[in-house]
Amino acid sequence: MNKLNVRERIDVLLDKNTFVEVDKYVKHHCTNFGMENKRIAGDGVVCGYGKIDGRLVFVYGFDFAVLGGSLSSANAQKIVKVQEMALKVGAPIIGLNDSGGARIQEGIESLTGFAHIFRRNVMSSGVIPQISAIMGPCAGGSCYSPALTDFILMVQDESQMFITGPNVVKQVTNEECDKESLGGASVHGSISGVANFVCQNDEECLMTIRELLGFLPSNNMEDAPIKPATDELTRICHELDNVVPADPNQSYDIRNIIEPICDQQYFFEIQPSWAKNIVIGFGRMAGRTVGFVANQPQEKSGALDIDASEKAARFIRFCDCFNIPIVAIEDVTGFLPGIQQEHNGIIRHGAKLVYAFAEATVPKVTLITRKAYGGAYIAMNSKQLGADVNLAYPTAEIAVMGAKGAVSILYRKETPEQQAERVKEYEEKFANPTMAAEHGFIDDIIEPADTRHALIQALEMCRNKNQSNPPKKHGNIPL
Ligand code: HXC
Repeated sequence: MNKLNVRERIDVLLDKNTFVEVDKYVKHHCTNFGMENKRIAGDGVVCGYGKIDGRLVFVYGFDFAVLGGSLSSANAQKIVKVQEMALKVGAPIIGLNDSGGARIQEGIESLTGFAHIFRRNVMSSGVIPQISAIMGPCAGGSCYSPALTDFILMVQDESQMFITGPNVVKQVTNEECDKESLGGASVHGSISGVANFVCQNDEECLMTIRELLGFLPSNNMEDAPIKPATDELTRICHELDNVVPADPNQSYDIRNIIEPICDQQYFFEIQPSWAKNIVIGFGRMAGRTVGFVANQPQEKSGALDIDASEKAARFIRFCDCFNIPIVAIEDVTGFLPGIQQEHNGIIRHGAKLVYAFAEATVPKVTLITRKAYGGAYIAMNSKQLGADVNLAYPTAEIAVMGAKGAVSILYRKETPEQQAERVKEYEEKFANPTMAAEHGFIDDIIEPADTRHALIQALEMCRNKNQSNPPKKHGNIPL
């Protein structure tokens, strides 16, 4: 299916015959530059509400055919109206963006419109899910509003996001680029991390929004919808027996652990192409939504770098806003060392991850499959940071660092033979979950085949968890 017009998009997005349009008669009042001759009923945005899988949602969609989908103050007024309705009744809002940004002919009035939209985006944040589809070129304010929402989806080869277009870039920095190389879906899906999903066409994008909403509650006072579990809760997963390789230096795909344990073995990954060393996404366990945050040993040995820390922290905070329990799956050698990481601020970015896990009050469960070293062990939802249930496979290694690294520091003056002995000694002591379990930092050591059952039991135990942080205006997460 090729590029759809805005009404076709809304038709595909919503359940059949549920769309109720609002403000279709609104016109702009601008008379600059001959604009009095370009007054169209509804102006450049289609707004209203309807249903997705029978649940109320609000929607606004830009019409690029009307002055490049540029934002007039009338368009802004229409969008703000549905934003306020969505917030008042506690329903998600979806923006279908295809817009050249502030309507140049209106000057400050158009800029003011963006400010009003941004303010509602911020007030709605953490109260109702806000989802932005980017379905055409989006410039200026038409990027910042989506950036304030929870999830951004882009359409490959059809959508771009940039603060200023290629012409302005050329004028200011003398850099040559086109719309796609500046801010296409591949750029934002895998380099900048701005986009959470890259879809092949409009239809896939709209269907992905429908699916995403299926995992989410309508607002922060509700629980996510429950999908009756037809998958046995005690299902033994023998396919997990050999996922973690015996050789600690060999990598594996952590999704081979996540997928088998989800209901129907289905995992809905988010941001799969950016910061691949951490995997995030939703699955269901016993019919209920779970947010997974997992180190990916097959990328950078799963090490936590700046991008991975940010990606995970933002997702954890989303889950916490919307009452979605978190399962962390851990196999991590540590925070990624290096000059570039240090100079770019791994300290403050890595701190976001620590902050997000420590602050979250939803049920928090951790499974250590293999390496759990140093600061990364603490950061990845450790018991000491406030996790509710911490489990480990017998292959777990919980230590300050790997055996060879430790011996090279502690016994660097010894002969290679002596060092080999020390490595063996260190491995016996730390290359297992025993010491952590003796201290109670690990609640139980489980066999891989029992993972699904054990995690479901942990989540069920925590279901009525009622924890709150000390009253405050808001915390000061290291941004
Ligand atoms: C009024 C606009 C417009 C705008 C596009 N059009 N952008 N009209 N205000 N912002 C009109 C064009 O004049 C054209 O009209 C039609 O829409 C289609 O635009 P094209 O340029 O032919 O389309 P395309 O080649 O696809 O390029 C799309 C585009 C480009 C990359 C978005 O139009 C562009 O660079 N527009 C300006 C982007 C921008 O700088 N916007 C302001 C951002 S500042 P005709 O009549 O010829 O069909 C901002 C402030 C936010 O948004 C403040 C908060 C931070």
